[in-house]
Amino acid sequence: MKILVTGGLGFIGSHTVVELQNEGFEVVIIDDLSNSSDKVLDGITAITGVKPHFENLDLKEKHDVYNFFKNHNDICGVIHFAASKAVGESVQKPLKYYENNISTLVYVLKEVCQLKEQNFIFSSSCTVYGQADELPITENAPVKPAESPYGNTKQMGEEIIRDTCKVNSNLNSISLRYFNPIGAHPSAEIGELPLGVPQNLVPFITQTAMGMRDQLSVFGGDYPTPDGTCVRDYIHVVDLAKAHVVAVQRLIENKNTSNYEVFNLGTGKGSSVLEVIQSFDKVSGEKLKYRVVNKREGDVISAYAETSKAKNVLGWETKLTLDDAMTSAWKWEQKVRKK
Ligand code: UD1
Repeated sequence: MKILVTGGLGFIGSHTVVELQNEGFEVVIIDDLSNSSDKVLDGITAITGVKPHFENLDLKEKHDVYNFFKNHNDICGVIHFAASKAVGESVQKPLKYYENNISTLVYVLKEVCQLKEQNFIFSSSCTVYGQADELPITENAPVKPAESPYGNTKQMGEEIIRDTCKVNSNLNSISLRYFNPIGAHPSAEIGELPLGVPQNLVPFITQTAMGMRDQLSVFGGDYPTPDGTCVRDYIHVVDLAKAHVVAVQRLIENKNTSNYEVFNLGTGKGSSVLEVIQSFDKVSGEKLKYRVVNKREGDVISAYAETSKAKNVLGWETKLTLDDAMTSAWKWEQKVRKK
């Protein structure tokens, strides 16, 4: 069974390709290498023993998308990761984000609607909830006005798919709302490769420990949380990747109860920034240098998932811990920098 993974050489995409191949799926990857490298293919091949088919294709080129699907009309599921994801950049370059994240979604979805098997998984984000009024956050929590064009593209993406599902009963789709994906494959063959200065917490921690950054700035120390720092639900990327396999299998096997479904993907446990640092120090034996600075604009105080829907309906839950994730992230960083 052939699955298309767009953005399949990116952080979450590459881990998902590994899990799909481990389950025996044939994978075709589309990636434009704008925030990834074709070396990731070697990592995937080293882990699974199978080199996935790869097409260097820009999904903004509508005609190329059309031609691709013409040549691959036997695809039985599409997992759509390809998108830009830097929140700050999206504020500076909104049109880049609307084009990269919305136009491409429309082009892909149009072609999916021509397939015999119309199964579509969308990469969404807990960012759609903003600062939720109640914790843990259920899938029924209201979607809040987006803080950034990036966040808006996730909300609009969900709406575009939902509207299409309303008029096309052959289309089956699941939006997966990720909490904070971190870590790397335990083999250290694939992991996260941020361009430039990392904006996200964990790559900043591992780069600081490698000596590439002076120290970590902890954004805000007087939030109304147990230790004053922000709380997030950090999910190991391998657990997250496995959820995509379960989701696409659900659609292929017609087990979905509605043709548009939404699931949170998180651990259900909130961890503060200081707890993440403690976990890193414990597993690495390092003593991370950090100082508490001003709050970062746009940060929510606390966000963690209510996970029972994913557990009861998808039959999926996380197995790996924060320590597992920090161990793998550190192993990966050390390997990458040694090259
Ligand atoms: C961000 C995005 C979210 C996106 C996710 C994954 C925002 C508002 N949200 O989530 O939409 O899906 O990345 O790409 O930007 N922190 C520090 N120092 C640092 C970096 C981070 O203290 O140098 C803190 C932050 O204040 C936050 C936590 O670490 O409390 C996690 O930050 P980050 O990894 O950037 O993720 P989010 O902001 O939660």
